[in-house]
Amino acid sequence: MKTIDINIQDAADAAVKEKFDALRPEADEAVSRLEDGTGEGADFLGWVKLPSATPEKLMADISATAGRLRRNCDFVVCIGIGGSYLGAKAVISALSDSFADFRAPAPGSPKVLFAGQNIGEEYIHELKSLLDGRRFGIIVISKSGTTTEPAIAFRILKDMLVAQAGADKAKELIVAVTDEKKGALRTLAGQEGYETYVIPDDVGGRFSVLTPVGLLPIAVAGFDIARLMAGAAEMERATLRPGDDNPAETYARMRNALYRSGKKIELLVNFNPKLHFFSEWWKQLYGESEGKDGKGIFPASVDFTTDLHSMGQWIQQGERSIFETVVSVKEPAVTERIPEDAQNLDGINYLAGKRVDEVNKMAELGTRMAHADGGVPVMRVEVRSLDEHTLGQLIYFFEKACGISGYLLGVNPFDQPGVEAYKKNMFALLGKPGYESLHKKS
Ligand code: PA5
Repeated sequence: MKTIDINIQDAADAAVKEKFDALRPEADEAVSRLEDGTGEGADFLGWVKLPSATPEKLMADISATAGRLRRNCDFVVCIGIGGSYLGAKAVISALSDSFADFRAPAPGSPKVLFAGQNIGEEYIHELKSLLDGRRFGIIVISKSGTTTEPAIAFRILKDMLVAQAGADKAKELIVAVTDEKKGALRTLAGQEGYETYVIPDDVGGRFSVLTPVGLLPIAVAGFDIARLMAGAAEMERATLRPGDDNPAETYARMRNALYRSGKKIELLVNFNPKLHFFSEWWKQLYGESEGKDGKGIFPASVDFTTDLHSMGQWIQQGERSIFETVVSVKEPAVTERIPEDAQNLDGINYLAGKRVDEVNKMAELGTRMAHADGGVPVMRVEVRSLDEHTLGQLIYFFEKACGISGYLLGVNPFDQPGVEAYKKNMFALLGKPGYESLHKKS
């Protein structure tokens, strides 16, 4: 398997296939427009070349900063929301021990925690209680530098860190990732003298995991960011040219062919709990990129087989407006076999000696067949294993496909004007200066 394998056999009946074929010229053009920067939102195409164009020096600087935080902290809190959080969370969750939270931190290997991705009072209180008296550091990430959720978390945790470690030491333990010139976080970081990394102007939040936004937290968690980038670079090459060999184009074409055939909801499916947050990242990527102008496939996700026992009925027999994309991992990293039991009271001796993953793979196959039979088109994206390299491939694959798909849909995939609506209301309700007139109206 060279990069990923994409299988669309179970996704298309004759009518969908016809639409898929008809989309070829438009899809080819979309690929070219992403390469030559002639499509909508062309000011935000910096992500296209990140894998191949990120300087070695930046990678080395990130590794050095991560090393410093790893040596000096038992916990590192990454503060950010949306695109300034989900990419790092997705990769770290996919690569981490599922029970890492319950294992004691080892020296030089801090736990990476997240804050500023919600405004839960208990959440921040409990986080403070965990960090009380512990060696911790902060990576605060905000492209605009003005987002309320991370600003609140940063103010609270910065105060705590200064009180615990002293102002001078706290400066060494805080790193800011933000715009090069503008925003409150840039000003604050400059005044306080924090180390900073820049989020390039031409990379939007949800496309920023391969910038310091994702790379620094991932490196702090102890994962190999060079391998992640190498995997992404391989996918950059594989998706450079238009055509049937371009897996991102194939996926984008098929999901648009399905959308034009009345399938309005896409479920990203995994059979590996480590991919739960990868799906959360994917939902933001596609939701914010495509849901506008009254259009867009609704991105949803399920973790199987867990959710087969909650959502399975709906998927099998509910309204036929959905399709699925299964992300499948070929080889687990470890081996666990089901033991023989002399009494066989549970009746599962027929599975004795089999690997757990063998059962999981049959569950996947059986589910795909059942769903396809039940009128749910199913695509499948398979990676060899779950590691930095394949995650880099998957990230770039879905990003590229998102750009192509947005163009096929006829939207600008790189803006998010709708995100501002709730903020305006919240600011008015909280009495933020400049929003008084909105409050009077409400
Ligand atoms: O993709 C996006 O642009 C958004 O999800 C942002 O990442 C999110 O709103 C956070 O913004 P910021 O990084 O400016 O704090």
